[in-house]
Amino acid sequence: MNPFITNGYVSPAYFCDRVEETATLIRYLTSANNVALISPRRLGKTGLIEHCFHQSEIKERYYTFLVDIYATKNLHEFVFELSKSILNTLKSRGRKAWEFFLGCLASLRTGISFDFTGNPVWNLEMGDIKTPVVTLDEIFQYLSKADRPCLVAIDEFQVIAKYPEKHVEALLRTHIQHCSNATFVYAGSQRHMMSEIFVSPSRPFYQSTAIMGLDPISLPRYTDFIQHHFETDGKHITPETVENVYRHFEGITWYIQFMANSLYAMTAPGETCTADKVTVAISNILSQLNFTYSSLLFQLPPKQKEVLIAICKEGKACEITASRFLKTYKLTASSVQGAIKGLLDKDFVTHELGVYSVYDKFFEEWLKRL
Ligand SMILES: Nc1ncnc2c1ncn2[C@@H]1O[C@H](COP(=O)(O)OP(=O)(O)O)[C@@H](O)[C@H]1O
Ligand SMILES: [Mg+2]
Repeated sequence: MNPFITNGYVSPAYFCDRVEETATLIRYLTSANNVALISPRRLGKTGLIEHCFHQSEIKERYYTFLVDIYATKNLHEFVFELSKSILNTLKSRGRKAWEFFLGCLASLRTGISFDFTGNPVWNLEMGDIKTPVVTLDEIFQYLSKADRPCLVAIDEFQVIAKYPEKHVEALLRTHIQHCSNATFVYAGSQRHMMSEIFVSPSRPFYQSTAIMGLDPISLPRYTDFIQHHFETDGKHITPETVENVYRHFEGITWYIQFMANSLYAMTAPGETCTADKVTVAISNILSQLNFTYSSLLFQLPPKQKEVLIAICKEGKACEITASRFLKTYKLTASSVQGAIKGLLDKDFVTHELGVYSVYDKFFEEWLKRL
């Protein structure tokens, strides 16, 4: 098995560092402080939450729920995902645990079926949730009365700001405020949307939570981690190689994991992986992704394609409607304004602290080679 995980969480042995962050988050949660966890994508927010939830002091004392609401578009879908994720988590906690949850969920109970072993199966359709506000109320009844304290992590929380219902933040805030048996983590990536939710005085969540950022894992700790896993299998890697990868991908966890995974696979036991392998690994990865990226680009409207390529050439683009940018890439301000919205919505481009850049660094690299 390749020790460099590129998707999800496996166990502490394959999780690099985050010692202080884990302690901090656990300290907040065990003292019943809600936390907003904010960082750019792919740095490891979800991983950190999973890691904390796997620690024995958490696992043994709490019910932990992690619900990803990235794909939800309204309160209806939010309630659907939340109840589904709670039920699926409780299934591994035994009959008493899930029966109590279903007992609270009067509005949905008739829609739940059972498999041949008597375990509940979530095969509800979105339409089975007739009154999301009522179901949400029942979920909070459950959280308040569960036989253990609950930790609820809502991942990609910023999407609630895009729901068409205007009262969702206030509704959630009220429930959460009155629910002393549950503590919440709100994880989110789009910095400006997350900070609007938590630091605008006019918004319901204002000053209701501790705010925690996440920085890249440090180079020395990543080097130790990668070398350790190479050595365990009789392989070697020079620190310069790790540093090269780290700098190339600005310390962003997912890319480093992906590259380490690839470099590990390219190195036979007894061999040493050296820095010249980095470009080879990148080329291999890009050729594996060639089909995906070609189709992505093909699906883009022409204007968005032009703007995406311009941002890619620029690397980090600040003033995308200033005349220098427009002249250099032969664009007009109105076409840029139209296109950038679509690119941000589809997550092709990110906008952090005034800088636009291509979100997926492998895609960026691939575009540069066109
Ligand atoms: N500390 C870590 N050690 C090893 N891999 C990690 C670590 N944190 C995250 N990852 C991996 O990096 C990828 C991105 O992390 P994730 O937690 O999904 O980021 P985010 O939620 O911030 O977008 C995941 O595939 C995960 O497996
Ligand atoms: Mg995440």
